[in-house]
Amino acid sequence: MKIAIGNDHVAVEMKNEIMAYLESKGVEVVNVGTDTPERFNYPVSGYRVAKLVASGEVDGGVLICGTGVGISLAANKVRGIRACVCSEPYTARLAKEHNNANIIAFGARVIGVELAKMIVDEWMNARFQGGRHSERVAMIMEIEETQGLKEI
Ligand code: RB5
Repeated sequence: MKIAIGNDHVAVEMKNEIMAYLESKGVEVVNVGTDTPERFNYPVSGYRVAKLVASGEVDGGVLICGTGVGISLAANKVRGIRACVCSEPYTARLAKEHNNANIIAFGARVIGVELAKMIVDEWMNARFQGGRHSERVAMIMEIEETQGLKEI
């Protein structure tokens, strides 16, 4: 498995810990975030990770900023991306099983690193369940593609 990871300046330490954790599990990690404490605008990392995920160069993405909000908002502007902010493992699992989230995001100012590892594990180990969820995810993508929804 190959995962892209990105972060801003407030999440360097957590990014390093999550990278090491993923690598210890045999995951190949592509780091496109910042590695220094100098101010770094989170949309840059959000966009970089999103492009790698959308192009299929990696299997998924992990994004970390202060809250996970800004960086996921940026990623979600790239066509084909479903980035979810999660602060606990249950939402992380359902984000993949029901919403087919291809990027998981969280906040270095919100959760600790051990919880972050659990969130990443739940999301990576979960599988999209398809079925009724496929229809709903297709509707999300329809809004993205057409700025409309046939059904309404
Ligand atoms: C940076 O100060 C902070 O705004 C950023 O890390 C993030 O929380 C934005 O959503």
